[in-house]
Amino acid sequence: MSNVLLTSDSRDMHEKVLAASDGACIALGIGSELPTEPAELVARSGQQTLPDVVILDATVDPEGALGLASRFDQELPGTGVVLIGDPHALAIPALRVGVRDVLPPSTDAAELRSTLHRVHAAVQLRRMSAGAAASPFGAPVHVPARVITVLSPKGGAGKTTLASNLAVGLAQAAPGSTVLVDLDVQFGDIATALGIEPEFTLEDVVHGAALRDPIALKTHLTLHESGLALVCAPENPVAADSVTPEQVSALLMMLASQFRYVVVDTAAGLDPRTLAALDRTTDPVLITTFDVTGARGLRKEVDTLRELGMLNSARHVVLNFADPKGGLTVSDVEATIRTRVDATLPISRAVTTSLNTGIPLLLQRPKDPVAKQVRQLIAHFQQQLTQALS
Ligand SMILES: Nc1ncnc2c1ncn2[C@@H]1O[C@H](COP(=O)(O)OP(=O)(O)OP(=O)(O)O)[C@@H](O)[C@H]1O
Ligand SMILES: [Mg+2]
Repeated sequence: MSNVLLTSDSRDMHEKVLAASDGACIALGIGSELPTEPAELVARSGQQTLPDVVILDATVDPEGALGLASRFDQELPGTGVVLIGDPHALAIPALRVGVRDVLPPSTDAAELRSTLHRVHAAVQLRRMSAGAAASPFGAPVHVPARVITVLSPKGGAGKTTLASNLAVGLAQAAPGSTVLVDLDVQFGDIATALGIEPEFTLEDVVHGAALRDPIALKTHLTLHESGLALVCAPENPVAADSVTPEQVSALLMMLASQFRYVVVDTAAGLDPRTLAALDRTTDPVLITTFDVTGARGLRKEVDTLRELGMLNSARHVVLNFADPKGGLTVSDVEATIRTRVDATLPISRAVTTSLNTGIPLLLQRPKDPVAKQVRQLIAHFQQQLTQALS
């Protein structure tokens, strides 16, 4: 059965939809205000996955419901929208904004059930039609995805900080365009950094049908309020070892067919899963601490990647914890690593606060100097995608 999200203040409607969906329905009372953005509505539902069908009660605020339906059509076309309201008045405007059906408030559970079946089938077709205009998350399937993998030779260099903020920024600009994968399988903390409790983790994703079936994949993703989809690290560090490099490779390939941006956070060093990810990566981002040991570690990593032929021209080098009084310059580091440095991130207390509160820096302190640097990187990746399309 499809999973349904209903917005209505009518208790009667709640009961009918609950019966029609065999209980697979989350009902939200809306009061006088309907959110204007799909991501906000989904966040309010408290669900970690996108609904198959959204039923909007348009009896109180038809304009607001049509506006929200239109946003679903543009941003989350893998979700079908049904309106409750006057079919005579709403049919034409609803058609224009991609609504699947308009039902009167008097509709019964049996009619609702057959509508849900029909809409679910239509949505599945739309999601699965080969080369169709849209994927479950709104990214055109034919767009060559950017797979951005953040790695560092040593722990604590800022990988999770950078990966999570890059992903949130990309998702904010185009909700539904970006997925973030926590490949730090043993001690990954993306979920903590973004203040979420995932229902499913990487372990569930690679061991189920999700590697073959985009619909199964969708149901195993976690949704952040920014519009970012997530594959979080497993809860149990021991079980995490069952995730193989081959599965990582298959997962990234699948995600790259569904999203415009796939951002990957990794464990320190070059473990086999990170190497598998690099094999599927278009944009490696190497981050290290701005000090002598950080630079030496980075040089070894850069040399290894070069030998393996995994360091392409799209690579980025980021120095973190930059301290003007540290006695080291960017040119010193460039001489050591024998390649260009692309960005330096200053030390900022706001980064730690953001991690401790589970609110990404880009949302909590958008003007922070670290956030500004991250936004420059985001602009670069957006440009790469645009160029690839032209
Ligand atoms: N520019 C910065 N200024 C201040 N604190 C920072 C900065 N970058 C990262 N931190 C802090 O340093 C710590 C390590 O950062 P982070 O978790 O992003 O690194 P990591 O490379 O993912 O670590 P690990 O290898 O353990 O996964 C965190 O407490 C984070 O808040
Ligand atoms: Mg980390």
